[in-house]
Amino acid sequence: MNILLTGGAGYIGSHTTVVLSQAGHNVVILDNFCNSQKSVLDRLQSILGKALPYVEADVLDAAAVEKALRDYQIEAVIHFAGLKAVGESVENPLKYYANNVQGSISVLQAMKAVGIKTFVFSSSATVYGDPQYLPYDEKHPTKPMNPYGWTKLQVEEILHDVSISDPQWKVACLRYFNPVGAHESGLIGENPSGIPNNLMPFVARVATGHLPKLNVFGNDYDTKDGTGERDYIHVMDLAEGHMAALTYLENHPGWHAINLGTGIPVSVLDLVGAFEKVIGREIPKAFAARRTGDLPVYYAQPERAKALLNWAAKRSLDEIAASTWKWQQTTVKTER
Ligand code: NAD
Ligand code: UFG
Repeated sequence: MNILLTGGAGYIGSHTTVVLSQAGHNVVILDNFCNSQKSVLDRLQSILGKALPYVEADVLDAAAVEKALRDYQIEAVIHFAGLKAVGESVENPLKYYANNVQGSISVLQAMKAVGIKTFVFSSSATVYGDPQYLPYDEKHPTKPMNPYGWTKLQVEEILHDVSISDPQWKVACLRYFNPVGAHESGLIGENPSGIPNNLMPFVARVATGHLPKLNVFGNDYDTKDGTGERDYIHVMDLAEGHMAALTYLENHPGWHAINLGTGIPVSVLDLVGAFEKVIGREIPKAFAARRTGDLPVYYAQPERAKALLNWAAKRSLDEIAASTWKWQQTTVKTER
């Protein structure tokens, strides 16, 4: 299948590129590189043994998206392109609504003009908001707690309306939990610019000595060790989930919201412990106040993905830590 990956040069898109290409699909990346580097394309070439076509464009430019769809005879789109920093979305909501919501509309308009109706969307567990019960299943009420989360929910709603307007549309809204880890080659992974907000990249930078210590935000939650618990999913499992979703959509038109998580809550100290085991030494850390806006715990009910997509996360926390460390040692160290 010929598949366009908007935001395909980013963290999750690059891993999905590998999975789809190695399965024989023809992947075309469309990215404006606002949060990724072109060197990713060379590293993808090293993994895949061939160069991939890419289009440097903004998804807001519907004409450029339409041209890419026609030039490469695209049959399905996976829409990763978006901004994802929760704090920045609170400070600058218009930037987030414009890029994430208008950007999605623009891609959908281009698809409509060309007649392509298969769409996989990068949604997020953040659409659920304050847990009424756990684990979150897909029927859990949705009430995001910040503008970033609202952009995801609004796009889900737009997609729902589009799929009702024309029953030939095939739409999967994949609600990711916490993606972590890297490809086993160590050539692609997550390397945010500036000081990381998220736990895994922060831990990695403490491990490499670029940051002095980890602040553990809260050790008085009602969890097994007092620290926050999340559902950390290996990015390669997540990437495989996208391929499973595309396969499912082939015979299942309509709109589908599907959690992609492990179903296993993991604490901050569990995750740090797994990393310490891999590097063979302690990560300097200190307990600090709770971070504003953090939920104590949330994790996925992953049964729908299993039932519909025949997909389940299979990689362990140890594999997550080991691949993250290999990525740091192989690539981040030389590129920073
Ligand atoms: P990322 O920032 O690494 O990748 C996003 C890519 O999109 C980048 O390469 C960026 O340059 C590109 N991009 C952004 N705006 C664009 C635009 N207007 N036009 C063209 N390209 C544009 O992020 P990621 O972690 O790979 O996330 C991918 C998607 O998954 C995002 O939509 C994000 O909101 C969603 N998501 C991520 C997480 C997470 O924790 N990483 C969790 C849930 C959902
Ligand atoms: N944490 C620390 N210290 C740090 C960073 C994080 O203790 O320096 C803790 C947090 O308090 C939380 C856990 O590690 O308990 C995970 O925090 P992350 O920031 O890695 O992840 P979140 O679950 O808070 O947020 C992530 C993404 C959001 C997304 C959300 C839901 O950052 O974009 O998952 O999918 F909306």
